[in-house]
Amino acid sequence: MDVFTYKNGELFVEGVAVRGLAEAYGTPLYIYSKTHLQTQFRRLAAAMQRVKPLICFAIKANSNGAVIRTLLDEGAGLDIVSGGELFRALRAGADPARIVFAGVGKTADEIRYALRTGILCFTVESEPEARRISACAVEMGTTARIAFRINPDVEAHTHKYISTGKKENKFGIDAGRTLEAYALAAALPNIEIAGLHMHIGSQILTAQPFHDAAAKIRELCLRLKALYPTFRYWDIGGGIGIRYKPEDQALDPVAYAERVVPLLEGLGLQIVMEPGRYLCGNAGVLVTRVQYVKDNPSKKFIIIDAAMSDLIRPALYQAYHEIRAVAQTAATVHADLVGPICESGDFLAADRDLPAVGEGDLLAVMSAGAYGFAMASTYNSRPLVAEVMVEGDRAWVVGRREGWEDLVRREVGL
Ligand code: LLP
Repeated sequence: MDVFTYKNGELFVEGVAVRGLAEAYGTPLYIYSKTHLQTQFRRLAAAMQRVKPLICFAIKANSNGAVIRTLLDEGAGLDIVSGGELFRALRAGADPARIVFAGVGKTADEIRYALRTGILCFTVESEPEARRISACAVEMGTTARIAFRINPDVEAHTHKYISTGKKENKFGIDAGRTLEAYALAAALPNIEIAGLHMHIGSQILTAQPFHDAAAKIRELCLRLKALYPTFRYWDIGGGIGIRYKPEDQALDPVAYAERVVPLLEGLGLQIVMEPGRYLCGNAGVLVTRVQYVKDNPSKKFIIIDAAMSDLIRPALYQAYHEIRAVAQTAATVHADLVGPICESGDFLAADRDLPAVGEGDLLAVMSAGAYGFAMASTYNSRPLVAEVMVEGDRAWVVGRREGWEDLVRREVGL
C-alpha cells in the first residue's frame, strides 16, 4: 500500500495533507507514516515465517524514539552500534535480551554498559575486541555472549561506501580465519560463543548476493555448532534495498525469502536479521519550501529551505531521491535542487527534471525515512528540524524543532 498519495491534487501522508502539516509545524519537516513502518515489518515477518527470525531493527537508520517504539510494538528486537544507541533503545522500552551490538570500535565503557544491561549478543569485529570484551566481563563478574562478524567476501553491487562484505572492508573477520578466531575467543575467560554474524552491505536490490553469502557461511555455522554447544544464533544482517526511483524494482521480501530461507532451515539455529532501511526508508519524507528560483544563464537552481545538513545522502553517495510537488503538477523544469549551505555539494537533486515550482511552493523529498534525520547535523548553524508521525488522520510531533538557543546550549565559557 502506498501511504503517499495525491487526493484532489494535494499530497497526503495516509489521511493527512502534507500542506497542513507544513503550515502547522513549519519546514523543513520530516514526516513518518506509522502504518508504513508496521506494514513493512509485517511483510518481512510473514515472508520469513518459516524460520521465525528475530528481526532486530537497525536503529542507525532512524533512531527517533517513536519510530523505535512502533517497531518494538510489532515484535522487533534492535541492532545497535554505540552506547548512545543502547541508551535510546532502552529509553524506547526495548528488552535488552533482544538487542545485538555491532561496530568495529566499541569502547570499554560501551562494553560495560551493554554487559550491565544484559544484551543478547555482541557482534565482535576483531580478535582484540574479543579480548577487551572478555576483560570487561571478568572485571564485572559476568559472561559475555558473542558472535563474530564473518566476511563472506561477496560483491553486493551497491555504492562502495555502503558495501561492507568484501574482504578489503574494515568490518568483520575473513571467512578463512573463522575457526581460528572462534578458538581464540573460546579460550578467553567469561566468553560464551553464542553465534555468527554477517552483513554484506546496504541497499541491495537482488536476492542473489544474500543467497551467495548465506551459501558460503552455512557450512561454517554447522561446523561451529558441532564445536561449541552454546552456538545457537545466525545473524544474517540487513541490507534489503528499497525503491528510490519510480522505476526501481524494490527487493520483494518474498523473493528474498525464497532464495535465502532454504539455506537457513534445518540447522537448529535461531535466525536473527538486522534490517534498517527496508523498515523505515519509504516511511518518511522530508518536506521543504522553495525560497527562490535562480536562473543562471547556464543553469537553473531551485533553492529550498532544506539542505545537506538535513539529508546528506545525495551529497555523500550521489543518492537519488524522488522529488514530488505537494500541489500536484505535470509541468517540469530542468534544474538543480539546492539548499542554503555554503558548499557546492549542498544539493538534494542535481541536473534533474523537477516539478515546475515557484517561490513559496512545497516539495516532498521522498524515501527519506532511513539515514535522513539520523545523519543530520547543525552545519552552518542550522537547528535540527522537526519530526512528525502520522497514523490514519492523526499527526503528532515526535521530534521538536530546535531553536537557536539549542545551537549553543552545550558551549561553556563565553
Ligand atoms: N547491520 C549492520 C551491521 C550494518 O552495518 C547496517 C548498516 C545494517 C545492519 C542495516 O543496513 P540496512 O538494512 O539499513 O541496509 N548511510 C548509508 C547506509 C549505511 C549503512 C550502514 N550499515 C545510506 O544512507 O545509504
